[in-house]
Amino acid sequence: MSRLVVISNRVAVPKARGVAGAQGGLAGALNSALKRNGGIWFGWSGDEVAEFTGEISIQRAEGVTTATIDLAAQDVEEYYNGYANSTLWPLFHYRIDLTEYEREFGRGYERVNEHFAESVRPLIEPDDLVWVHDYHLLPLGERLRSRGVKNRIGFFLHIPWPPTRLFVSLPYHDRLVRTMLEYDLIGFQTREWLESFLHYCQKELGADVDEDTGRITLGGRTVHARAYPIGIDYDHVMDQAGTGDARQAAQRLLASTRHRTAMLGVDRLDYSKGLPERIDGISRFFDQHPQHVRDLVYIQIAPPSREDVESYQKIRTQLEQKTGQINGARSEVDLVPIRYVNKGHSLAELCGFYRAAKIALVTPLRDGMNLVAKEYIAAQDPEDPGVLILSRFAGAALQMPEAVLVNPHSPDELSHAIKQALDMPREERKERWDALIKTVRDDNIQRWTENFTGDLASLPI
Ligand code: G6P
Repeated sequence: MSRLVVISNRVAVPKARGVAGAQGGLAGALNSALKRNGGIWFGWSGDEVAEFTGEISIQRAEGVTTATIDLAAQDVEEYYNGYANSTLWPLFHYRIDLTEYEREFGRGYERVNEHFAESVRPLIEPDDLVWVHDYHLLPLGERLRSRGVKNRIGFFLHIPWPPTRLFVSLPYHDRLVRTMLEYDLIGFQTREWLESFLHYCQKELGADVDEDTGRITLGGRTVHARAYPIGIDYDHVMDQAGTGDARQAAQRLLASTRHRTAMLGVDRLDYSKGLPERIDGISRFFDQHPQHVRDLVYIQIAPPSREDVESYQKIRTQLEQKTGQINGARSEVDLVPIRYVNKGHSLAELCGFYRAAKIALVTPLRDGMNLVAKEYIAAQDPEDPGVLILSRFAGAALQMPEAVLVNPHSPDELSHAIKQALDMPREERKERWDALIKTVRDDNIQRWTENFTGDLASLPI
């Protein structure tokens, strides 16, 4: 099998690997994929320097070789905080109201994609499969081609692809997507995002699109686009769930909640996760069922993310206010209904919390996939599993229809789902969980990696 060269903005460098919730699904998933397959992982170190030097730092840990570069402060501002997280991220999560278009952001984005191409080029050997990840690096394939890279190059988008009518509000959208046609294979989390992309290529670029095979042809170039729903590293999660750290974390949570039912949310502090809407739903639940104020506690773990971006600062303030309001109104001297924790936790600790929580609320307004939903299912006690309440707008909902699916914008639906989860008999919980665990176990990270890289290596080009 060919060696893999994985390229992404965020690399789970060993020093940061302890914290699971803060780094998002991509880093954990790629770490697992590389551990099993070997190869190189190239990306940004996460460090800022005054001037970009192009110096590469190579580290080998736990069987994964990482190669990272530092970025200049201006690059971080314009590329990472700017184009990636103030333009593309909100737009791709349907938040056109939060989307900012600044010419400098676009320039920074192009410059950093050039830096990536220039720096990673010497590391690529003729038989390598090159696999680029996520919205930070949409044009990287084309930048590599212009440097003579003839290898097969695949691209996977971890977040949604927005409907054409939204996407065309991005200045120079066509130029950006044309660069993507230099890949050989483009992967999406779900059929929904894939269809939006195919629709765009057909309607806006006039490409020839075969919807059955995902073959896109334009100007003599052919690229395939397909859906590859990502999964968790099931074996690794099960290992972590069996550790002393996990047991201790479960004990800690149970001891502190005693006779109350623990309901849990674990999300990066991001407006796409629907956190204020979730608090509104919980508040509605307490309004409608005041008898439960004493026997239900909600624990929200929300490590801060992208803290230099204004919309993230705002969502944090908003969430603090909402949590403060509901706790102020509902607390008693011996009871607080919502615990709000900004710290990240290790995967083992999270597994303990998942196991102790009888209900998980995973209610993003829009999410490419969402791996917390899958980890929660993996960590349950098969004889007495908890209930997963899942947003219809998470990519995971398409694979997990046995969860209690909700519209996260509706406080009434959320309230109703919480009541349903609280009252659900063990038999029904087991039935739903039996179906869910099959998907989580079978459609795991190994299968995802094999499916994508297998197609990348063998598709006719
Ligand atoms: C999402 C994105 C990833 C990103 C992660 C964490 O999962 O798809 O590309 O790495 O969020 O965000 P951050 O900005 O901290 O890398």
